[in-house]
Amino acid sequence: MTRGAPGKVVRPFAFFRAGAQSDRANRPILVFEDVYKYFKKDQPTLRGINLVVERGEFCFVTGPSGAGKSTLLQLIYRKHTVDAGRILFAGRDIARLKSSSVPFLRRNLGIVFQDFKVVKHWTVFENVAIALEILDMPRRLVRARVAEALERVGLAGRGGDRTEGLSGGEQQRVAVARAIVTEPALILADEPTGNLDPHLAIDILTLFEEIHETGTTVLFATHDHSLMGKRDHRIIALDEGRVLEARTGLRSWPGAMDVGARTETSGLRVVASG
Ligand SMILES: Nc1ncnc2c1ncn2[C@@H]1O[C@H](COP(=O)(O)OP(=O)(O)OP(=O)(O)O)[C@@H](O)[C@H]1O
Ligand SMILES: [Mg+2]
Repeated sequence: MTRGAPGKVVRPFAFFRAGAQSDRANRPILVFEDVYKYFKKDQPTLRGINLVVERGEFCFVTGPSGAGKSTLLQLIYRKHTVDAGRILFAGRDIARLKSSSVPFLRRNLGIVFQDFKVVKHWTVFENVAIALEILDMPRRLVRARVAEALERVGLAGRGGDRTEGLSGGEQQRVAVARAIVTEPALILADEPTGNLDPHLAIDILTLFEEIHETGTTVLFATHDHSLMGKRDHRIIALDEGRVLEARTGLRSWPGAMDVGARTETSGLRVVASG
């Protein structure tokens, strides 16, 4: 990590950030070009995904279990690499990043999982601060940024609490604070409400929407139709390895209650076929 003036942290790949002044800032934040991913020979999980996500969008990613929602997100943070096609993040081909550059990519992503992935015997502060400490950020700045992130997720003043004493909804808020504290341009949330009661699920969805309102792009994977039905966000649905899209939520897509119902695609834009 490079430090400039005292207290000012120079962020590598700053052009990935929302609002960065660069021609890269005008490009879509994410482009999938005919992406294939195989875990088994002759049985692609993703077969020809084409997708453009503009900066500042909020998208649900949906589809039945096994459709490839997690795989799609994992390709973005380079847990896996594509077998064919390209994924461009702010114009950069993710597959072509050297292994040594992958941490720079991930600094520009906030990732939230279904099972929270917080360290239970750490304090709330420690769980959030770790994302900045690995960037070698000065202690004073870490404290200020963590306090701000905790406030944004509704946990102001809870930094000293041990995480294991928090409810599931609160632990997920800690995970969201950890994801946003680095001010990523793109948040990837993989079933972030999957372990939560319906009313807590709405709270967490609302929290992501508040983060989105500050300019962050959000991909929110869920198979919870009741949750998606409450909002008019763009829906990216995976169906048999391809993408079907509804630009304005479930209302524009009456057949969505059964994504596998291939005959009920009125209102949908079929993005990839063949
Ligand atoms: N690391 C892996 N190794 C082998 N197969 C995998 C791997 N990851 C995913 N798959 C397979 O790819 C397919 C898509 O899995 P994925 O986890 O992306 O689906 P999903 O839509 O996230 O499902 P869920 O709703 O259950 O989370 C499944 O058939 C799965 O078994
Ligand atoms: Mg999954």
